[in-house]
Amino acid sequence: MFAVHLLAFYFTKLKEDQIKKVDRFLYHMRLSDETLLDIMARFQAEMQKGLGKDTNPTASVKMLPTFVRAIPDGSENGEFLSLDLGGSKFRVLKVQVSEEGKRNVQMESQFYPTPNEIIRGNGTELFEYVADCLADFMKTKELTKKKLPLGLTFSFPCKQTKLEEGILLSWTKKFKARGVLGTDVVSSLTNAMKRHQQDLDVDILALVNDTVGTMMTCAYDDPYCEVGVIIGTGTNACYMEDMSNIDLVEGDEGRMCINTEWGAFGDDGALEDIRTEFDRELDLGSLNPGKQLFEKMISGLYLGELVRLILLKMAKAGLLFGGEKSSALHIKGKIETRHVAAMERYKEGLANTREILTDLGLEPSDADCIAVQHVCTIVSFRSANLCAAALAAILTRLRENKKLVRLRTTVGMDGTLYKIHPQYPKRLHKVVRKLVPNCDVRFLLSESGSTKGAAMVTAVASRVQAQRKQIDKVLALFRLTQEQLVGVRNKMRVEFEYGLKKDTHPRATVKMLPTYVCGMPDGTEKGKFLALDLGGTNFRVLLVKIRSGRRSVRMYNKIFAIPLEIMQGTGEELFDHIVQCIADFLDYMGLKGAQLPLGFTFSFPCRQASIDKEFDLDIVAVVNDTVGTMMTCGYEDSNCEVGLIAEGAQDGEELERNLGEEQGVAQGTGSNMCYMEEMRNIELVEGDEGKMCINTEWGGFGDNGCLDDIQTQYDKEVDEGSLNPGKQRYEKMTSGMYLGEIVRQILIDLTKQGLLFRGHISERLQTRGIFETKFLSQIESDRLALLQVRRILQQLGLDSTCEDSIVVKEVCGAVSRRAAQLYGAGLAAIVEKRREDQGLEHVRITVGVDGTLYKLHPHFSRILRETVKELAPQCDVMFMLSEDGSGKGAALITAVAKRLQQAQREH
Ligand code: BG6
Ligand code: BG6
Ligand code: GLC
Repeated sequence: MFAVHLLAFYFTKLKEDQIKKVDRFLYHMRLSDETLLDIMARFQAEMQKGLGKDTNPTASVKMLPTFVRAIPDGSENGEFLSLDLGGSKFRVLKVQVSEEGKRNVQMESQFYPTPNEIIRGNGTELFEYVADCLADFMKTKELTKKKLPLGLTFSFPCKQTKLEEGILLSWTKKFKARGVLGTDVVSSLTNAMKRHQQDLDVDILALVNDTVGTMMTCAYDDPYCEVGVIIGTGTNACYMEDMSNIDLVEGDEGRMCINTEWGAFGDDGALEDIRTEFDRELDLGSLNPGKQLFEKMISGLYLGELVRLILLKMAKAGLLFGGEKSSALHIKGKIETRHVAAMERYKEGLANTREILTDLGLEPSDADCIAVQHVCTIVSFRSANLCAAALAAILTRLRENKKLVRLRTTVGMDGTLYKIHPQYPKRLHKVVRKLVPNCDVRFLLSESGSTKGAAMVTAVASRVQAQRKQIDKVLALFRLTQEQLVGVRNKMRVEFEYGLKKDTHPRATVKMLPTYVCGMPDGTEKGKFLALDLGGTNFRVLLVKIRSGRRSVRMYNKIFAIPLEIMQGTGEELFDHIVQCIADFLDYMGLKGAQLPLGFTFSFPCRQASIDKEFDLDIVAVVNDTVGTMMTCGYEDSNCEVGLIAEGAQDGEELERNLGEEQGVAQGTGSNMCYMEEMRNIELVEGDEGKMCINTEWGGFGDNGCLDDIQTQYDKEVDEGSLNPGKQRYEKMTSGMYLGEIVRQILIDLTKQGLLFRGHISERLQTRGIFETKFLSQIESDRLALLQVRRILQQLGLDSTCEDSIVVKEVCGAVSRRAAQLYGAGLAAIVEKRREDQGLEHVRITVGVDGTLYKLHPHFSRILRETVKELAPQCDVMFMLSEDGSGKGAALITAVAKRLQQAQREH
């Protein structure tokens, strides 16, 4: 009995002594709670640094956005391929995610070796090898006939700008293939797969880090899971971060998974105080010296090696094996993590230790075995402690993001060290709970690796891709080919001739109205004139003072509102109101009662018998706004013989009036053009000498069905909902006031298809006229961040996500682009006609332009100019923006008419 006690005492004493000895030797590896809290705080600061736009470039913890925005919601389904490359094992899998509701996942997989010559050879060969394995898998599983989407789990730091792309930032762990750094892994693999074109019809839809795959795998079973941690060959973590904290990605709605790449923590020297001589030695002998310093203190690839280096040093110092070292102990990599795990087993631990040491050619004593076992404990405990500190920092961040006092959350776990080491999980959990007492953490081991999660991500991506295809199909309707545009130009040309010819004119849809404006001002005009400008966005009254000789014009103007009831009342009421406005204006100008000749810009189609027959006041000229614009510009540039209006949408109320049910309201022209025509071509007016301005009223182009081939269902809907169905077809595709409506119809349709606004058609979206030109212009502005687009949409009452905003912007772009191109085709028709009529090889023409669409829209004018250039290459077309509106032109026309009147009287 005594002997037993003595033996026990001896053993306890022996153990204590050995442990003390090792503790003393490795005291630097034993981290106190204070140190861990300090490391935790340092890591919190690192995360912040990695997330900030300005600080990210120099941050060692890269905090990479993954473009995974949501955890699985159970609606994922389909059949997917998956590759899992970068951990200790390379696998190819087929994953079948069940039909809705049942949450059932079936996997078939096959492991393939990753020989060193492949993973440290040439990059192209690495990807070819991976593609070969995939092709082999497809053959063995008889999948070669199937087109399947693929999710790639690639466990290395990659910079992503979208889900299906990843630029390799650095190799870590055992990999070091040449020529891959800085390139996109997805396209390299896609290229490599081309060699197997016959067997492989695969689309790589997602690239995910293994941490992300793990988090998603676990989240499929536990929706609380919002963190993924790997403690395997390497170590790393990801978690769901608030978008508003991610500077590197646009948008602030919802969350996105961040791959922290915490393995690189300390690469900037932040952990020098806790690194030991063994860590430094290990680093020097690694594939990537100076890199992944945190990982090298933690993960499975390095733990055994750390133990070996320590044992060697202790042996050298005579603290172990009686100072003897075996040659095996000198060989790098001889002790592996699985050995460390085996030595730390509860019961068999000591026996295992003896066996392992003996295998290394050593002759350990009992004391040696105890000491070596304790070395392992210290090294693996330090690893768990460090992981716990970093994980605690992430959990704290999550809790603070959510502004919670207590956080309940789940962490998805994977990696061989975590899985095979007997004590590791328990130690890790305990320390985490100690460091963050205000978090209730559940640790969930991913039983099926990261693949299930990668399949979830791929499933979502494939749904997004299918939706994208639907959206593209709609947008494609608005994309006109060069051939179609040439067709539009030619048809417009035909319509011009119809309108000008006496016998076809009555049936013509492009009316080609003579304006009786026959000449440009010659500079001798002078006097004071009144001008009215009605029909555009504003009603303006102007006083225009023209001085002869110096071509100088002074203008004073005032904008008046025309109340709704008057706009909708009788013509007489409208006219009375206008007269009242003129009186007010004269009063305001101190010219009360003055009798001034008046020019009236009236932007509605009206047939004129002669220039001043419309009203019997002192109205000398009634001119269309295009004519006014041409004149305004013609005063500056005598080459100007075309006037163009690209009008914006009017305000909502006015638009409602124009689109609405009310009868008898004149229709604003919106899109129109005038030009100087040879008198001999104008059959409706006597005389062959000189030129006269023709108001084309081209808005009616297409009313005979000649544009039906390019009309979309959305154009038809806008037309049917308008005051004048079947009329002004060209205008309805081109002028600002309708563009917004076309956009709205498309958005309604996309929403109905579930592709926008979460499928919810809001009341606002059903409201006519919400997309005024100014909003279209703002939305399409390149300088605007997505966030601002979203804000505009929100102002419009449309509750959109960032994805929605992108789609809305694209829709606006497609619609306005088509409008600008159609305008360009029409304009090309007229400048070509002018060139041919003058029998010239080449012609220079200036086009006077006005209208908010042209002036405000960020792309409209450019696309218009480009189209004219393409469709009328022999014409040198200059665009001149009418800065002064058409009022000045109207006054000039009045002045010319006045001069002619006087000349007539004098004769
Ligand atoms: C596996 C995952 O289970 O764990 C891999 O499927 C991951 O994606 C790996 O890389 C990490 O652990 P280890 O120990 O294999 O590096
Ligand atoms: C103005 C002209 O500048 O532009 C008006 O003076 C014209 O005569 C108007 O109708 C057209 O543009 P919008 O977009 O302002 O209606
Ligand atoms: C390395 C890789 C990282 C990966 C981790 C675990 O740290 O850089 O991307 O997640 O290993 O496999």
